[in-house]
Amino acid sequence: MLAKTPPMGWNSWNTFGEAINEQVVRDTADAIVEKGLKDAGYEYVVIDDCWSLRQRGADDRIVPDPVKFPSGMKALADYVHSKGLKFGMYSCAGTRTCAGYPGSFDYEFIDAKTFAEWGVDFLKYDFCYKPRLANGPILYNRMGMALKASGREILFSACNWGSDEVEKWIRSIGAHMYRSTGDINDSFNSFKDIAMSQVEKLAYSGPCCFNDIDMLICGMHGKGNVANGGCTDTEYRTHFALWCLFQSPLMIGGDLSKIDDYNLDLLKNKELISINQDPEARPPMRLGHGDRPIFFKHLANNEYVLAFFNFGDRDSWGDVEFYDLGLTVASGYGFRFRDIFTGEETGVVTGHLSTGIKSHDCRIFRGTLVEK
Ligand code: GAL
Repeated sequence: MLAKTPPMGWNSWNTFGEAINEQVVRDTADAIVEKGLKDAGYEYVVIDDCWSLRQRGADDRIVPDPVKFPSGMKALADYVHSKGLKFGMYSCAGTRTCAGYPGSFDYEFIDAKTFAEWGVDFLKYDFCYKPRLANGPILYNRMGMALKASGREILFSACNWGSDEVEKWIRSIGAHMYRSTGDINDSFNSFKDIAMSQVEKLAYSGPCCFNDIDMLICGMHGKGNVANGGCTDTEYRTHFALWCLFQSPLMIGGDLSKIDDYNLDLLKNKELISINQDPEARPPMRLGHGDRPIFFKHLANNEYVLAFFNFGDRDSWGDVEFYDLGLTVASGYGFRFRDIFTGEETGVVTGHLSTGIKSHDCRIFRGTLVEK
């Protein structure tokens, strides 16, 4: 069974866009292993759009661009596999990809077979240039079946940006993750708005098919294909914390040969990753509103997370009254929390928890319910 927990890996689009090639993929696979990201759980190395020639070959198959990929896709897949990683590629449900390369419309079965022959383990499937009369559920179901018929186990990553109420049918067509929003760019407002747009829809996300709120921008610092001013390290931490709390797939989008230590450590943060990979995959409850949302989430093994965010421009305070969670003082129970970034313990707290939160920052507490 694929995607029991949110898939983790790297995708070429955010940094490289059209400038993808086999050397970048090899260097990235090397870096994932050497920099400890494989040990942290990152597994899929995914080539996004712009990998092929503009026309199919005489045999109707999509042809990898021989300048960008001189060794061919099979050799590249073999290299990625030799590192103990998995190999991902990209196509589109329409007649062309979003960047104008051949799409899989009407070629789904032959393309799925080709990907399988190359050793592909993951397919991201976009939604541009789709004939107006063809609808999303049919097109994604067709590729879902083509991948199953391909003879290889291939994770199906749908990308229709949340259109056609995707959350309501995407699990039925066999996808393992699904993009639910438009594209992220490297800015605070972009990741904040994307994450907050999905709060009410997280109940549709769970084992075997996760809501994908797009590739990560951690450490991009205003460079690359989705550049838009960049974020501070504090903002990248808030971004990663939201993606982990919402159990989105974690697809790194930065250039791993240049990633700075702060963001590398952030992407390997064990506490956040274990929240992201929690096997029960329960959506968080939202408590605070406006610019200072607070979330409460049940984890496996009787653990809980209380997460405070401050999207405002000023340092601020957050307060949770435990009766808003159904826990009264008369119950005789309280929480024993640990701040996952500082390691600081709260002791047994009853009644409420208040904490300061710096502007654009977050505080994440993890703990258990204990008898006073
Ligand atoms: C968009 C998609 C992006 C990227 C791009 C490639 O539709 O949302 O993540 O794949 O196409 O052209």
